[in-house]
Amino acid sequence: MFNKRTKIKDLLSGEKTGQEITVMGWVRTFRNNQFVALNDGSTNNNLQIVIELGLIDDATAKRITTGASLKVSGTLVESLGKGQKVEVKAATVEILGDCDAEKYPLQPKKHSLEFLREIAHLRFRTNTFGAVFRVRHALAFAIHRFFNEKGFVYLHTPIITSSDAEGAGEMFRVTTLPLNNAPKDANGNIDFSEDFFGKSTNLTVSGQLEGELGATAFSEIYTFGPTFRAENSNTTRHLAEFWMIEPEMAFCDLEDDANLAEEFIKYIIKYALEHNRDDIEFLDTRLKDEEKQLPQDKRSELGLLEKLEFVLNNAFERVTYTEAIDILLNSPAYKKKKFKYEVSWGIDMQSEHERYLVEKHFKKPVIVTDYPKDIKAFYMRQNDDGKTVAAMDILAPGIGEIVGGSQREERLEKLETRMKEMHIPAEEMNWYLDTRRFGSVPHAGFGLGFERIVQFVTGMTNIRDVIPFARTPKNCEF
Ligand code: 4AD
Ligand code: MG
Repeated sequence: MFNKRTKIKDLLSGEKTGQEITVMGWVRTFRNNQFVALNDGSTNNNLQIVIELGLIDDATAKRITTGASLKVSGTLVESLGKGQKVEVKAATVEILGDCDAEKYPLQPKKHSLEFLREIAHLRFRTNTFGAVFRVRHALAFAIHRFFNEKGFVYLHTPIITSSDAEGAGEMFRVTTLPLNNAPKDANGNIDFSEDFFGKSTNLTVSGQLEGELGATAFSEIYTFGPTFRAENSNTTRHLAEFWMIEPEMAFCDLEDDANLAEEFIKYIIKYALEHNRDDIEFLDTRLKDEEKQLPQDKRSELGLLEKLEFVLNNAFERVTYTEAIDILLNSPAYKKKKFKYEVSWGIDMQSEHERYLVEKHFKKPVIVTDYPKDIKAFYMRQNDDGKTVAAMDILAPGIGEIVGGSQREERLEKLETRMKEMHIPAEEMNWYLDTRRFGSVPHAGFGLGFERIVQFVTGMTNIRDVIPFARTPKNCEF
């Protein structure tokens, strides 16, 4: 055993004063050759270590630099100084790892998020990213807890697939064929029968289709895993590799689906507020500081904590796509020609339209339902009007779309016809169609973009700052 160690978070509450303890962590600052601020990542709050004069020699003192790792044993005592309840009166100080102050990129000062993105391998050691990734963890844990409490089965859907779940063609190919000398068939096309899997394969864009197989046996399943999209979108909301949570429920219609999504989002936010209050308070202050530089009208109306409390305490707004388009057409923004993109029934709403609806009009999360079928995926259930499908998107203030879901087309004939119209190769999807052939049931599900909800809960404006190592067009460091 390396050693008995107490986590700094457990000491700061002040309940253990008088005890002999050992802590380990990294030096944030060292003042007056006497006071070390030590951090072990369990909380943003540092533990003050008091090293009395004469306890260590000068050579050791010189090695206590920002970033160095220490093992300290001593007594936890009430602190007389300002800013902390308790501190450690050191008995022994051991340097576990030196850190050359000249070369260490993280100095005890404020660094820009852009700079920290370039040293993403070290940014976990900052207050902002410490808070962000502890909140990310809390949300991930809450997600499993929510579904486990409801009796959903966690289904691991494949990462490598041979289908395009969304039919949008935004896939990363997976192959072991030589790029410069790929085998060709009689027509001169690449012969994938010679490839590793004997067919063309790609990284999954969604686990939904396999999730439906699970739901039509277990009744309720969820997936939580990485998904990949080769869409060339360089925005603050898109990643090429992101994590998605996809519940799928048998015996469920669109309204049940929307109800579950709203309950789910509120549950995980509440969990994070209860378990990571310190971190969210820190992020709340960080956001306020950042927004001070913005003109008044660009600042958020609510602080981060206020926003989260507000979301918990208010029902999400629900409108149909048709109603949403009417709201946009009648808006002052439209009349003053403030929208860059056109507005008319049938458009795929742009983020400026979504943000108008949630931030200016409703000022709360909005569930938009019943979209035109031509802008949605082949598997969505067709409504009786012949024009729309039983789809729902949830739009959140500051982010836009966080959830995309639908009731699925459970009627075999209608599904086959739609697949034909949309040129989805039905012969390769027999396994999927079998769910409709053998005991088909009304069913529905949705996908929550994990990084987008982490953005929402942490107030981080760039999605690259809520995933440990972001993959975006022309960028795959670490
Ligand atoms: O709306 P999408 O494409 O829906 C699906 O994939 C369905 N199969 C889900 C289902 O019904 N089971 O994606 C779902 C969510 C979006 O609402 C968004 O939050 C997130 O995934 N998302 C992305 N997040 C980060 N980067 C990207 N490139 C994303 N694309 C989608
Ligand atoms: Mg979508």
